[in-house]
Amino acid sequence: RPTYRIACLPGDGIGPEVTRGAVTVLEAAAAAYGFALEFSAHPVGGAAYDAAGTPFPDETREACDAADAILFGAVGGPQYDGLPWEHRPEAALLAIRKRYDLYANLRPILLYPPLRDASPLKNEIIGGGVDFIIVRELVGGIYFGEPRGITTLEDGTRRGVNTEVYTDAEIARIARMGFTIARGRRRKVTSVDKANVMEAGRLWRTVVDEVAREFPDVEVEHLLADNAAMQILRRPGDFDVMLASNLFGDFLSDEAAMLTGSIGLLPSASLGAAQNRLGLPKGFYEPIHGSAPDIAGRDLANPLAAILCGAMLLRHSLGQEEAALAVERAVVRVLEEGFRTGDIKVPGTAVLGTAAMAAEVARRIG
Ligand code: NAD
Ligand code: IPM
Ligand code: MN
Repeated sequence: RPTYRIACLPGDGIGPEVTRGAVTVLEAAAAAYGFALEFSAHPVGGAAYDAAGTPFPDETREACDAADAILFGAVGGPQYDGLPWEHRPEAALLAIRKRYDLYANLRPILLYPPLRDASPLKNEIIGGGVDFIIVRELVGGIYFGEPRGITTLEDGTRRGVNTEVYTDAEIARIARMGFTIARGRRRKVTSVDKANVMEAGRLWRTVVDEVAREFPDVEVEHLLADNAAMQILRRPGDFDVMLASNLFGDFLSDEAAMLTGSIGLLPSASLGAAQNRLGLPKGFYEPIHGSAPDIAGRDLANPLAAILCGAMLLRHSLGQEEAALAVERAVVRVLEEGFRTGDIKVPGTAVLGTAAMAAEVARRIG
């Protein structure tokens, strides 16, 4: 029986609750599909700062180094908002993304038919279905550009500085990822930029067009980011692969969550060139949502985003496609059978807590 090592980083707020749900489901998948998962839990974010004075302790880093894949909950909380950047919970997340050069963040935006009425958008907009994937660049752009920081000038003026920087190579590799994914789907890439005002955006568009020549069978559309934010609500069914920078991909994915009904449903996979012991991408799997301090610790969070992260982990890092599909089918089934968590604003047959929802998914595997 193959055995895989998963480093589990639950983090803050609802992170531990939803991650526990994902582990329950992954264990059911392992039992049903004949492999073993070795989970180890490690502190990250605010929880790690409280325990060890740093959001990304050495112990956690070493466990991530040794793992075949990393399952992450969420980090952050109001009690940490005043800390200097290097101590903030979110700094751990960026450090992990950078450490493994996880440049491609895949964020599938899928509307489950039983949840059609959960979206605030009218049926005439989303009724034809929504199924696209945001391919977000994750280790460049304004999140990492230098200079950055808050400085005080001689006259007492305080300046906050961040810098949007992209090299051609950084743009080309994420664009190639986007076009390659489009080839396995409906062969359309919508690239998002602000080429009308930003030089980094102009280069983005130029390099995306250069890469597009390697993929003549894939259609390319360029949208300015402000217009993209609107078109997502106007014609969501038109998109297949949406290619975006680090910052624009972040905004657009939370917006797109409302097409599906709740951000509590959306998983993501972060992949780079680094490989695990299987020769597959050493991936990092995190829900799109955050630590949701407003509902944390009350068994209210929707675990489906974290559970679907588990499916992406099985697929991309462990090569367990059958098990991944089984998890995804089980999620569809619980939604079809009317199980809801409180964030899904559409009538069902039962509103469950986090743990009970995860248990229902686990029961439907295998
Ligand atoms: P958030 O995603 O945590 O919450 C936004 C809203 O969505 C809240 O009302 C919350 O209750 C709801 N929500 C989120 N996930 C849910 C789920 N699984 N089930 C039900 N409802 C859910 O965003 P925020 O409030 O802006 O951020 C809170 C903290 O999380 C901040 O410190 C932020 O930096 C951090 N954050 C972390 C990550 C991450 O770790 N990957 C991602 C985003 C935000
Ligand atoms: C996300 C989050 C993170 C981001 C934060 C917490 C650093 O919003 O993963 O979407 O901005 O990338
Ligand atoms: Mn975000």
